[in-house]
Amino acid sequence: MTAKSATRAPGAGTVRGARFGAQPSDLMDAINVSIDVDKRLHGEDIAASKAHCAMLVRQGIISEADGDAILGGLDTIAKEIAEGRFSFHRSLEDIHMNVESRLAELVGDAAGRLHTARSRNDQVATDLRLWLRQTLDDMDAALAGLQEVLIDKAEAHAGTVMPGFTHLQAAQPVTLGHHLLAYVEMFGRDRGRAADCRRRLNQCPLGAAALAGTSFPIDRRMTAEALGFDGPCANSLDAVSDRDFAMEFLGLAAVLAVHLSRLAEEIVLWCSDAFGFARLSDAFTTGSSIMPQKRNPDAAELVRAKTGRVIGALTTVLVAMKGLPLAYAKDMQEDKEPVFDAADTLALCIAVITGMVQDIAFATERMKAAAGEGYATATDLADWLVRVLAMPFREAHHVTGRLVRLAEQKGCGLEDLSLEEMGAVEAGITADVFDVLGVENSVKSRTSFGGTAPDTVRAAVAEARRRFVD
Ligand code: ARG
Repeated sequence: MTAKSATRAPGAGTVRGARFGAQPSDLMDAINVSIDVDKRLHGEDIAASKAHCAMLVRQGIISEADGDAILGGLDTIAKEIAEGRFSFHRSLEDIHMNVESRLAELVGDAAGRLHTARSRNDQVATDLRLWLRQTLDDMDAALAGLQEVLIDKAEAHAGTVMPGFTHLQAAQPVTLGHHLLAYVEMFGRDRGRAADCRRRLNQCPLGAAALAGTSFPIDRRMTAEALGFDGPCANSLDAVSDRDFAMEFLGLAAVLAVHLSRLAEEIVLWCSDAFGFARLSDAFTTGSSIMPQKRNPDAAELVRAKTGRVIGALTTVLVAMKGLPLAYAKDMQEDKEPVFDAADTLALCIAVITGMVQDIAFATERMKAAAGEGYATATDLADWLVRVLAMPFREAHHVTGRLVRLAEQKGCGLEDLSLEEMGAVEAGITADVFDVLGVENSVKSRTSFGGTAPDTVRAAVAEARRRFVD
């Protein structure tokens, strides 16, 4: 714990003002001070202060001279921070007081007028909304990049046959391109949720002041517009107490993290010796300190594990908020750490998954061979019985089951049964049944919309490019 007397900065005591005689205890500082976390909001805090200042001048609430001094001072502070010359002081609690205190040093009395008709409550809500808006935009761009890489791979592997799984058991052959496009859809929905969140958060709390609004003739529309918001928050109590945007962000972040984790898990499985479907580049593989033969997919495993942090962040904020009466309570200060951590974690994980997908090499022959294992074309056989022999599907399912059992007893594939053996089970079966028993023919036949046939996948690739990339 820092010895407060030694680190107390000029301008200290601004937050407490004249109301207090003694300084807070070290323990009070330890639990209360947020500058180490919220200094990250400096850009947003200064932008919001500039918008507020310009509005105060325009409304005649402060003089033009004071306004100019304040705006100049804020620019200086932005520069000092950008150049690493700004000293943040724990004694000034948070980013808002650090900026205001430095402003007082730079421009004197005029600085004290900036806080007219506002409060840290509407300041912090505004800053965090601005920060999240930018973060959502960055996340959208990163996800679009990931989708593009997946779409490129899907196009290259539109005709690559692999087993499609249910219950992690080979179910029906699919194409790898089709499989990869499934993730393009998932990330597309993540982008949709991010866009929804962005739309709803884009209202400006500034001017709600502490909770009740203000007696000064402010223009909240002006500040909202200057900061790129669609308009001011309609209710001042809601404006300072609402953290839906943080919860929504973390909600969509948690779903996105789950999607990344599922893809990471598939990469781990595919690269295992047992599957042997893929190989990660050296760039995304680690070795073992004891087993020289190992190529470990640590990056994929870490993406999978980091999902826990993001889900944890959502839980943290939901629980922090759930018992809060209107309007502001200091509990809300605890929103920033999880929001920042989830955003950082996701930015890293999206970049890592993008890199891995770009570099991964697929063992297409091995995938195709695996696609034929486990009687994966049994449904094709049943469909053939329905189509050619006009059998009801339930009966075809039964006949196919008997043929699978026969093949199992003989230890061979369905396509290895002779026509005589098949005829003994179902007399109507003819030699052209063998056409549907190969995996290539199986996938080729699945031309229904959204299906796995190579040509259908090529069309889906073009459509995905149009929807998500172009
Ligand atoms: N650092 C505070 C936060 O992040 C700013 C708002 C403080 N407001 C107050 N009434 N103490 O929530």
